[in-house]
Amino acid sequence: MTAAPKPIPTLILPLPTADDTAALGARLASVAQAGDCLLLEGPIGAGKSHLARAFIQARLGRAEEVPSPSFTLVQVYEAAGVEIWHADLYRLTHPDEVWELGLDDAFAKAICLVEWPDRLGNHVPPEALHLRLEAWGDGRRAVVTGGRAGLRKALGDHA
Ligand SMILES: Nc1ncnc2c1ncn2[C@@H]1O[C@H](COP(=O)(O)OP(=O)(O)O)[C@@H](O)[C@H]1O
Ligand SMILES: [Mg+2]
Repeated sequence: MTAAPKPIPTLILPLPTADDTAALGARLASVAQAGDCLLLEGPIGAGKSHLARAFIQARLGRAEEVPSPSFTLVQVYEAAGVEIWHADLYRLTHPDEVWELGLDDAFAKAICLVEWPDRLGNHVPPEALHLRLEAWGDGRRAVVTGGRAGLRKALGDHA
């Protein structure tokens, strides 16, 4: 009889203020590596772009303007030794467009931050960190699943 696989626990992180969301982005930026993918889930206004902006600025080490990719779909930033791809797939009409955007390549070589990742269909990288932002009181909370151990550890998962 084989042992059942150890279930990956869900982490719940309270984010009472917008600064807490930004701090979470910066913490992830300090440990993310090429090939890491963060799937930012949650409704309009949840704070996905806020987290992505804080991540990108922390990783670039400067307060660079981070425009929303809602029209361009993808914005690419050059960080030290690695590209950061920030995608907003809200307007994607078919998962095949993921190929056209070059996202499959980016998943392998870059750090990817993806808003509206439900549009990815079967292009979701298997080790992606799923981070769902939900309304919680006056603030938000993040519900985190998946992701490689190093990323989860940075979020306080000591399982
Ligand atoms: N933890 C939080 N508590 C309260 N407001 C937040 C929090 N995180 C982000 N916000 C606010 O939510 C608003 C919408 O964020 P945005 O990143 O544009 O959402 P999305 O990209 O998910 O549509 C921003 O004004 C931001 O300051
Ligand atoms: Mg957004």
